[in-house]
Amino acid sequence: MEKKIVLLPGDGIGKEIMESAKKVLAAIESEYHHDFVLQECAIGGDALDRYGVPLPDDTLKACEEADAVLLGSVGGPKWDNQPPEFRPEKGLLKIRKGLGLFANLRPVKSFPSLLHASPLKEEIVKDSDMMIVRELTGGLYFGEPRERRNNGEDVVDTLAYSRQEIERIVEKGFESAQIRNKHLTSVDKANVLESSRMWREIVNEKAADYPDVKVEHLLVDAAAMKLVTNPGGFDVIVTENLFGDILSDEASVLTGSLGMLPSASIRTDGLGIYEPVHGSAPDIAGKGIANPIGMIMSTALMLEYSLGMKEEAKAIETAVMDCLEQGYHTSDLNIKDGKQMNTEEITEAIIENLTTKCISDSICSSYV
Ligand code: NAD
Ligand code: IPM
Ligand code: MN
Repeated sequence: MEKKIVLLPGDGIGKEIMESAKKVLAAIESEYHHDFVLQECAIGGDALDRYGVPLPDDTLKACEEADAVLLGSVGGPKWDNQPPEFRPEKGLLKIRKGLGLFANLRPVKSFPSLLHASPLKEEIVKDSDMMIVRELTGGLYFGEPRERRNNGEDVVDTLAYSRQEIERIVEKGFESAQIRNKHLTSVDKANVLESSRMWREIVNEKAADYPDVKVEHLLVDAAAMKLVTNPGGFDVIVTENLFGDILSDEASVLTGSLGMLPSASIRTDGLGIYEPVHGSAPDIAGKGIANPIGMIMSTALMLEYSLGMKEEAKAIETAVMDCLEQGYHTSDLNIKDGKQMNTEEITEAIIENLTTKCISDSICSSYV
């Protein structure tokens, strides 16, 4: 099957982990006899340096024409003092908005062999398996006005949502809960924010359409606390843009490292951008030690959600799990035993597991 995939490596470790994704795609291509046509485009600081803008028109066009998009990460100290329109992060926000990717799915599941790698107690972490459904193209990130006023002495950001924007993400939350454990936690700040009161109202209205789903409302401050005291109590969390951003980094602690978490930013027709939850990690960029698992698991999500390759996605997940069970890990994971590897080595170890498994199970031959 031929599929067009746009690669956006971006900045910092984004470039390094994109190399891992490319190797995994090549392995899947040969094991399952697919044809992935890869096109690399610029975004973020890389695009600023080369083209003077964080999101060139050509990049947006290529993504719109692709079957799916893989993204590394953007940003870094080099561009931190740029005006807002010329920050790398603006490229990311523009591509999400430009492609209408309103739903950001962030699965958080701890691998059994990494339970002891979390700074939290094993008995707290062991049952964590949740999906964070984050609204991605509205709220504080995009609301107008947003400006400094009164000679820079005052400032305003705006948290704005339309009914339709809330409805479609809440529906995604319910749909996700329906195919998981039928428990939806809507996270808001309805005791203070008008936008949250409308959010809660809409969740309650929509609940009637999903009678099989148990709905719970939680204030965001309490949700932050419960994420690290009783993570097993969550199945699907649906929440607005900024809350989802913050809670997902917090939830990554359950898996042992921020470097583990994948994400899918999708719209209704199947197109999606797949990227790890973490950023460009300037503190380790260039050292070749970044954990590529968030990126590799994002590649698996891409195969499953946008390219209809469920078996292939499962094979990647299994290979990652096997690799971790063999004791291989990167330095961001707090593990004393086993073997610590750099980005390239652990990528090879994952691919080794992937191809060995394919041969021994002959699961791939049925796809010829
Ligand atoms: P970060 O996620 O880049 O890093 C936070 C910490 O986690 C750092 O100590 C880093 O070394 C570590 N880390 C992150 N990913 C890792 C990995 N794969 N392997 C090993 N360690 C990893 O967050 P930050 O430092 O606050 O932000 C740095 C830059 O990245 C900023 O410019 C920010 O805007 C940007 N950013 C981009 C994205 C994105 O492109 N999606 C996401 C978050 C932050
Ligand atoms: C993320 C990042 C981005 C966000 C930044 C880089 C704009 O933190 O993808 O989680 O806040 O959405
Ligand atoms: Mn974030």
